[in-house]
Amino acid sequence: MEYGSAVSAQLMLVGLLAVLAAQETPVAVVAIPSPECQKRCGGVDIPYPFGLDRNCSLPVGGFNVSCQQGPDGVYRPFIGRNLELLDISLIHGTARVLNHISTYCYNTSSRSMDLDTWKFNALHGQYRFSDVHNKFTVIGCNTLAYITDDTSTGYQSGCVSTCQNLSLIANGSCSGLGCCQTSIPRGLGFYDVRFAVGFNTSQIWNFSRCSYAVLMEAETFNFSTTYITTTEFKDTNVGRVPVVMDWAIRIGAMSCEVAKQNKTAYACLSDNSDCVDSVNGPGYRCSCSKGYQGNPYLEDGCQDIDECSDSPCPSAGGICHNTVGSYWCSCRPGRRFNEQRNTCDPDTGFITGLTVGFLGLVIFSLFGYMIFQKRKLNQVKQEYFRQHGGVLLFEKMRSERGLAFTVFTEAELIQATNNYDKSRIIGKGGHGIVYKGIVKGNMPVAIKRCTVINERQKKGFGEEMLILSQINHKNIVKLVGCCLEVEVPVLVYEFVPCGTLYELIHGKNQALQISFSTLLRIAHEAAEGLNFLHSHASPPIIHGDVKTANVLLDENYMAKVSDFGASILAPSDEEQYVTMVQGTCGYLDPEYMQTCQLTQKSDVYSFGIILLEILTGQVPLKLDVPEMQRSLSSNFLSAMKENNLDAVLPSHIKGQESTELIRGLAELAKQCLDMCGSNRPSMKEIADELGRLRKLPLHPWVQTNAQVTETQSLLTACFETASFELDASGTGYPTQEGESLPMNPTSSYYAR
Ligand SMILES: *[C@@H]1O[C@H](CO)[C@@H](O)[C@H](O)[C@H]1NC(C)=O
Ligand SMILES: *[C@@H]1O[C@H](CO)[C@@H](O)[C@H](O)[C@H]1NC(C)=O
Ligand SMILES: *[C@@H]1O[C@H](CO)[C@@H](O)[C@H](O)[C@H]1NC(C)=O
Ligand SMILES: *[C@@H]1O[C@H](CO)[C@@H](O)[C@H](O)[C@H]1NC(C)=O
Ligand SMILES: *[C@@H]1O[C@H](CO)[C@@H](O)[C@H](O)[C@H]1NC(C)=O
Ligand SMILES: *[C@@H]1O[C@H](CO)[C@@H](O)[C@H](O)[C@H]1NC(C)=O
Ligand SMILES: *[C@@H]1O[C@H](CO)[C@@H](O)[C@H](O)[C@H]1NC(C)=O
Ligand SMILES: *[C@@H]1O[C@H](CO)[C@@H](O)[C@H](O)[C@H]1NC(C)=O
Ligand SMILES: *[C@@H]1O[C@H](CO)[C@@H](O)[C@H](O)[C@H]1NC(C)=O
Repeated sequence: MEYGSAVSAQLMLVGLLAVLAAQETPVAVVAIPSPECQKRCGGVDIPYPFGLDRNCSLPVGGFNVSCQQGPDGVYRPFIGRNLELLDISLIHGTARVLNHISTYCYNTSSRSMDLDTWKFNALHGQYRFSDVHNKFTVIGCNTLAYITDDTSTGYQSGCVSTCQNLSLIANGSCSGLGCCQTSIPRGLGFYDVRFAVGFNTSQIWNFSRCSYAVLMEAETFNFSTTYITTTEFKDTNVGRVPVVMDWAIRIGAMSCEVAKQNKTAYACLSDNSDCVDSVNGPGYRCSCSKGYQGNPYLEDGCQDIDECSDSPCPSAGGICHNTVGSYWCSCRPGRRFNEQRNTCDPDTGFITGLTVGFLGLVIFSLFGYMIFQKRKLNQVKQEYFRQHGGVLLFEKMRSERGLAFTVFTEAELIQATNNYDKSRIIGKGGHGIVYKGIVKGNMPVAIKRCTVINERQKKGFGEEMLILSQINHKNIVKLVGCCLEVEVPVLVYEFVPCGTLYELIHGKNQALQISFSTLLRIAHEAAEGLNFLHSHASPPIIHGDVKTANVLLDENYMAKVSDFGASILAPSDEEQYVTMVQGTCGYLDPEYMQTCQLTQKSDVYSFGIILLEILTGQVPLKLDVPEMQRSLSSNFLSAMKENNLDAVLPSHIKGQESTELIRGLAELAKQCLDMCGSNRPSMKEIADELGRLRKLPLHPWVQTNAQVTETQSLLTACFETASFELDASGTGYPTQEGESLPMNPTSSYYAR
């Protein structure tokens, strides 16, 4: 078979119409079209990047549209040299133009052919034939037509149409009888049509004179049997059909990724626009983002779509809310928007849902808050624990097993004291409050809750606790444990039930007539306790606040030295001075007042005052007497100087006790009160001397009897108080601090 072009050269008309301004313009400066640019021609919209003037279009070949007046006086838009433009779609990136039909006609008498083929070259422009919308369509009997692209792809295809018998062909069907169609590949920008010649047409010439072939929009084609017989399409004005062109910005065959990098050349100028890679050939197009519409190639071209103007929401009770770029539907209260069916459904669970949701939220928030608070509290507790040396304490406790010392949790102590109930208060002072509590089921304890603590104490607290806890002496109140989880550590002592030596000497129960020998015993025991602190504790401990109010009495009226709140470990180096004056007025070592250095001899001085109280039955400081006589110690010392001890002794002692005992005791007190600490005896010497004085011969039988009755009466007094304590509820609770201690308002036992 030969091609038609080879047959009758002199009749061959080749319509070669390149579409474009073929040169690829290297500069693609994105220009904003002037508002004066014409935007319509012959009823066809010409949107940017297309323009009716080079200055109004994207300055790239192919977007320049010319508006030409036809012979009928009507203006029509054209691209390329003479391709009439039907319409442009920005959304689909298509332009429809009128394409020419290639024809091949013949007559039998001369067998001459009439060939008119059409070459379409769009390759250098912005266009590609749409492979989706177009089909190569051939009409004729005994016709074979080829579509070829010799320029780049070498593509070649075609279809055959036959119709020996006219009665076989039908309207609307293009499937080989009188009409055939074939698809084209993607990326086609050029085509040439060729007809095969050599068919014996003698059978058909009298009813089918011509064959036709064209690439055209398939949708608009509807085969009619009349096309077989007509010769009308030879006329170039009639023989034009729409073809769909895909256009894109194909400068340098840039993809979106590349194009976006060059802002000066990037054509998608509008906000809310997206770049779309061309699927048919190289390059890219622009489109408005979802929810926007307009021209993405213009600045501010993409505008929000007011979806609500289309009433997309249910008509019954639906409320449309337009948002920038989108919209949403709601329904009136009590109804729920059903997205799938786009209806407003009655919402039976509405109220329940609302309530449950709200309650859930509240509960959820509460839980969250509680967990948050608890976590915070735990953190605080741990921080305190660490600050107070709890870790160190724990380690030591682990290494020294069998230590009767407990680190209580805050919760345990709160339980033990019934949340620090007022009725549990057994002592109050400037530095803290002491509560009675029960721990470990039935163990009574005194819980001292300090109100302040200084930095020095804070740091070494755990360590100090450990040392104090190891002190185990019958005349020293035992430290049972502590709690470090709180800001100011809480100390837990063994509970000592029968008041203080202060009360015994100066209290309201004075009427009990405590024997002098009992007081002496208590003093001796207290001295033994202090001696233990000074000499046997390791490291040595200075009590720092020795006074009768700090000598507690147990159920056997045995002395127990208490309150280590002011205690310091004996200084290990010379520099370690106590800068804060501690202790209690009337008991303070004058040397300590001057040097600020607390020594064991400071305790000795204070103990001398205790001895004076026992001797004289007077308080260390009297405020209701002339200034000269206020201080017990100076009264006593001056009496001693004048050798007139009787002046300070109460009558019952003067009469009853042996002169040697009184003398010895007074002499001991005097030594204790020496202005110079180094001249004072040590605690051990005091204890030994008191032991010696107690053994001085008296009337043995009288004393024994007297002691038995006395102890009994004391016990009764103690347990009366104790039972009163147990029965006590509410506020009517006697605190050990009161008017009876005018000298030392902050003093009480346990608490200072
Ligand atoms: C960006 O495009 C302009 C104009 O087309 C061109 O002159 C320039 O070289 C391009 N720059 C880059 C980085 O591609
Ligand atoms: C492009 O526009 C110019 C006028 O600005 C015109 O002279 C030219 O013919 C047009 N080219 C095409 C291919 O339409
Ligand atoms: C296009 O604009 C330039 C300057 O803006 C002007 O010089 C030129 O004449 C214009 N061309 C046409 C066809 O209007
Ligand atoms: C057939 O061919 C002859 C010779 O070329 C021509 O004169 C005649 O018009 C043709 N007939 C038709 C119907 O085209
Ligand atoms: C065309 O087909 C019809 C029906 O099939 C038949 O009657 C007729 O003879 C055929 N004509 C030719 C020329 O084959
Ligand atoms: C096809 O339709 C045309 C009119 O559009 C009519 O003249 C012709 O007879 C029809 N052909 C057949 C086979 O029905
Ligand atoms: C064409 O076919 C007819 C009969 O169908 C025959 O008579 C004629 O010779 C053929 N012509 C050619 C050129 O083969
Ligand atoms: C075509 O010509 C053949 C004989 O050549 C004849 O039989 C037939 O009827 C003709 N048909 C038409 C439509 O003129
Ligand atoms: C094609 O035309 C026929 C009549 O000629 C008509 O019945 C049919 O619906 C048309 N089909 C389309 C797809 O337009």
